[in-house]
Amino acid sequence: MPLRSDEWYGGRDRNGFIHRAWMRRGVPDDAFGGRPQIAIANTASDLTPCNSHLNEVADSVRQGVWAAGGIPLNLPVVSLGETNVRPTAMLWRNMAAMATEEMLRANPIDGVVLLGGCDKTIPSLLMAAASVDLPAVVVPGGPMLTGTFRGSPLGCGTDVWKLSEEVRAGTMAGADFLRSESSMIRSRGHCNTMGTASTMGLLAEALGTTLPGIAGTPAADSRLLARAHETGRLAVAMVEQDRTPSRLLSAGSFHNAIVALAALGGSTNAVVHLLAIAGRLGVPLSLDDFDRIGADVPLLVDLQPAGRFLMEDLHRAGGLHAVLGQVRDLLDPAALTVTGRPLTDHLTDTDIWDPEVIRTREAPLRPNAGIAVLRGNLAPAGAIIKPAAASGRLLAHRGRALVFDSVEDLHARIDDPVLDVDADSVLVLRGCGPRGYPGMPEVANLPLPPKLLRAGVRDMVRICDGRMSGTAYGTVVLHVAPEAAAGGPLAKIRTGDVITLDVAARRIDVDLPDDELAAREPAPAMASALARPRRGWEQLYVNTVTGADTGADLDFLVGASGHAVARESH
Ligand code: FES
Repeated sequence: MPLRSDEWYGGRDRNGFIHRAWMRRGVPDDAFGGRPQIAIANTASDLTPCNSHLNEVADSVRQGVWAAGGIPLNLPVVSLGETNVRPTAMLWRNMAAMATEEMLRANPIDGVVLLGGCDKTIPSLLMAAASVDLPAVVVPGGPMLTGTFRGSPLGCGTDVWKLSEEVRAGTMAGADFLRSESSMIRSRGHCNTMGTASTMGLLAEALGTTLPGIAGTPAADSRLLARAHETGRLAVAMVEQDRTPSRLLSAGSFHNAIVALAALGGSTNAVVHLLAIAGRLGVPLSLDDFDRIGADVPLLVDLQPAGRFLMEDLHRAGGLHAVLGQVRDLLDPAALTVTGRPLTDHLTDTDIWDPEVIRTREAPLRPNAGIAVLRGNLAPAGAIIKPAAASGRLLAHRGRALVFDSVEDLHARIDDPVLDVDADSVLVLRGCGPRGYPGMPEVANLPLPPKLLRAGVRDMVRICDGRMSGTAYGTVVLHVAPEAAAGGPLAKIRTGDVITLDVAARRIDVDLPDDELAAREPAPAMASALARPRRGWEQLYVNTVTGADTGADLDFLVGASGHAVARESH
């Protein structure tokens, strides 16, 4: 099969001379004669600490590509460090995806190995690969090893939220909290809870986009490098057999990812990422599919934030394949992987080695724990809640709204000792959707008022048009759509309105007659947030981003574009 890169290197004319000559930096003469050119899209960065080890992983991929007869090409791409990037890494996910897509298309590339880890990096890489539709395979960078503090495991993310709430409640000294800081990050790798990075690494495999068996391998485990080497070899074979995303990824692939998401108790952020990836491929996937496919899937993995253990434990207990083995009958047996064979064909080693960490189908942590999709007059286009991370007693609740117009408004008032709030109140934070913030930050698990924390309250119903960290927990209704800044009804509610949450009925409503809600004006703060002067990417983003219910991609990036480039300048 002719290679795409032959269009650059195959010519006997001036342009072929130019393309070859500048690439002769130590590669053999036959590097340009029909050998697959494999980009290694590498998100290694010192400013993305969860991915800083990926250069070593890339070296193993390179060796694998060489060993299979391909030519490896390091391609540093935009990297997003969740803990550093302001105002929120999600503002830049689509930019990273767009930049990677364009660089893959613009260069003489036949296939690509995608190296990601920290939350947005694997989603942006998969969105890019789906758009450019070149053979692509993911190497998830893997979670870090478990840290301990005073003899107890310390999960990154989840324990930060818990311990900081203990400090606010006055039950932990601030100095002890800071002492735990150096114990948390024990090794290279991404967060070790079932947060977004862990979830997206595992879902990349459930989708069929990784070497089978690699996802969840700790970053410090030498087996990750061995699998990275194999992935390099696989990428060459994928090019030779033209295994492109559009030929591999189907509705069944996303079905399998949603089953895995539910069984793992994965991050709510996977919803916007899977919707965006499917949108790039033209695979029909809706918010309701998450409820339809996932709601009755049992929660099998006892990992923080929903449970007790961490990613190192999951790997030791049998990993993703042991989990998928328990729900094999729920998987689509026709959905393919990068090997060219179905996902279910690869589920041959599914023993559970620690039934405390991975439960059997007969003894799940919860019988049905997928993400629930809510609708109602507060969220006509949908909202989501993760029942596995919520308090069971709050899943049916009525309470008075306490409304905050922005994160700044929240921070200015939440600690006020005379704040008119009680344990039954419903905390509402708006203006945090894709357009409103902009970038849909992870603020939906808003902190509880200190006076209630001191009284022993540890969870309240919270509603937001933003996202929640995958490591967070609580009874949080999030991704409310349409968002307040786009004119959604969330913009119209007022402190004191009564809100009803009924997860069993899949409803979220404000107790107001339709005509009264329709007649209300949106809060002025929503319009003024959009009117702020902007430039560059932020302006493009605010003008074109879609709602959370469709993946918060830019409207003009939905749908694959392919890899053809019609013109060149030489
Ligand atoms: Fe990178 Fe959590 S901060 S995965």
